Amino acid sequence: MRSHLCGRVSEALDGQTVTLCGWVDRRRDLGGLVFIGLRDHAGIVQVVVEPDNPEGFAVAETLRNEFCVRITGTVRMRPESQWNADMKTGKVEVVAATLELLNGSAALPLLMTDEDGEEVRLKYRYLDLRRPRMQNNLRLRSKLTSAIRHHLETRDFLDLETPILTRATPEGARDYLVPSRVNAGRFYALPQSPQIFKQLFMMSGMDRYYQIARCFRDEDLRADRQPEFTQLDIEMAFVEEADVQGLAEGLVRQVFAEVLQVELPDPFPRMSWAEAMRRYGSDKPDLRIALELVDVDDLVVDSEFKVFAGPAADPTGRVAALRVPGGAGLSRKQIDELAAHAGKYGAKGLAWIKINDASAGLDGLQSPIAKFLDGETAAGLLERSGAGDGDLLLFGAGPAMTVAAFMGAVRLKVGHDLELVEDRWAPLWVVDFPMFEFDAEDGRYYALHHPFTAPSVADPDRLRAEPADALSRAYDMVLNGAEIGGGSIRIHDPAMQQAAFDVLGIDQTEARARFGFLLEALRYGCPPHGGIAFGIDRIAALMAGEDSIREVIAFPKTTTAGCPLTGAPSTIEAEALGELHIGVVMGGSSE
Ligand code: AMO
Ligand code: AMP
Repeated sequence: MRSHLCGRVSEALDGQTVTLCGWVDRRRDLGGLVFIGLRDHAGIVQVVVEPDNPEGFAVAETLRNEFCVRITGTVRMRPESQWNADMKTGKVEVVAATLELLNGSAALPLLMTDEDGEEVRLKYRYLDLRRPRMQNNLRLRSKLTSAIRHHLETRDFLDLETPILTRATPEGARDYLVPSRVNAGRFYALPQSPQIFKQLFMMSGMDRYYQIARCFRDEDLRADRQPEFTQLDIEMAFVEEADVQGLAEGLVRQVFAEVLQVELPDPFPRMSWAEAMRRYGSDKPDLRIALELVDVDDLVVDSEFKVFAGPAADPTGRVAALRVPGGAGLSRKQIDELAAHAGKYGAKGLAWIKINDASAGLDGLQSPIAKFLDGETAAGLLERSGAGDGDLLLFGAGPAMTVAAFMGAVRLKVGHDLELVEDRWAPLWVVDFPMFEFDAEDGRYYALHHPFTAPSVADPDRLRAEPADALSRAYDMVLNGAEIGGGSIRIHDPAMQQAAFDVLGIDQTEARARFGFLLEALRYGCPPHGGIAFGIDRIAALMAGEDSIREVIAFPKTTTAGCPLTGAPSTIEAEALGELHIGVVMGGSSE
């Protein structure tokens, strides 16, 4: 139907006849002359309909935005004064000879700009996706997956599928369940990841597996979380950490070079989980922000300020300071906003000191905790944090994990608010995670990764005896403060697997019921193996410079897990439910 793409009409075609198909991006009627911005997936070109073309003119006058048309005309150079540097095709225009209306459009329900609200954008997603921004995002995503496949296929990886209708997989979220019609009262779970199956592939001798796999997790949604999302899932046999990390790093470097022409560092820096929590208050530090937390427990342990002295003396407590360069200029209101932000992450307060004139000792400081400060302590705090005139010091005190959470959040907010985020790509491996996390409320341990992650201790009895001290052989890949991937070396010994289940309070009967097939498989010469999974949506969003992964997913869900386009989830007729042996109880709480 067409000879060229709108976005590819260039000076080289000057004088030639072209036939273009696309949508009216906008139409300007200058009395005798009609200008049409004609758009297809490749871009926009200006079409001119001149008055000496009465038939074309008659059609042109009826056109509205998003009408679908076909135009034949001659390419000509625009006068230099009319060149448009913002358009790829800005030096040329097409003088229309014939205009054919392929299909009109009803009045548009949205503006088709960034001003449109999320609900209307998702309801009319097919229109929203016509926009150049969304076209670019989905094209970038396609390039990304294509580059990934190419990289892995030239390295002997098999692209293998795993079941969607399966049993619960232990990634820590709630499952989406599917009732079985032919097995009354039984349910499949949609996979939270292909974790168990990819391990079974290693036991099957497949050696190197990958899959671009859809995963399903019923959890609270955020900008970087969707109920169904896409992983690049990888597993390798006969490997150790360095093998998986080397492959994963090489893949990410190659993909960034190919898709964005960006050179990432080689190798990626590595940091232990403990160091990340200490210096950045986060297990996924954004290294583009140079601010760091410093521990000041020893300096305030004898302070009269009990809010500091208490946690400083408690081995599970922590007092941390954050130097904000130039922060003495912040207003009271701005500091209160930081404190309110910290409050969302569990802070009971956010003490601060403004350093107006360090040479004046205590008199040169301004702080709500001034009355508790003596000269020596104040001097110690300034020295430790490196704070000087014009700076602000922020303090967090309390249980160590809480302090990390809220001071980490404050660090990010300060970094963004004061525009301290460096313009670069900052990848990082976070390693040496604790194996388990103790939940004081439930009085039990949880796996920090998943229960198949190998501990760094070799003896199952040691793991049982000292679970709190055990580190795991897990690793996360972080990019610009986002966790883009995570994986581990797996347990390949049934006794160790049982020890991990024991610590997690999964007894033998339960373990057999839930993961019996995996425990059984471990008994038949299971090779040492490990792997990783990347969040494709997160990588695509970072590459596209988007804050939300919804902008790089064609048909995402809203924050309440709904699809405004299709109306999913929907009610089901009683008869259909009956066939599934299901009744719906409304108003009941599932908690
Ligand atoms: P994990 O649970 O860390 O590991 O998931 C791997 C990566 O998937 C992405 N991700 C998500 N992206 C969007 N929405 C979500 N709800 C969501 N949840 C996770 C993140 C994360 O780093 N089976 C293990 C991997 C392994 O051990 O090999 C797993 O699923 O980028
Ligand atoms: P208060 O004695 O409660 O008035 O607190 C004095 C200062 O200490 C205020 O600036 C509070 O914001 C701050 N503060 C209170 N609790 C904490 C805490 N856990 N960590 C850091 N600062 C705190």
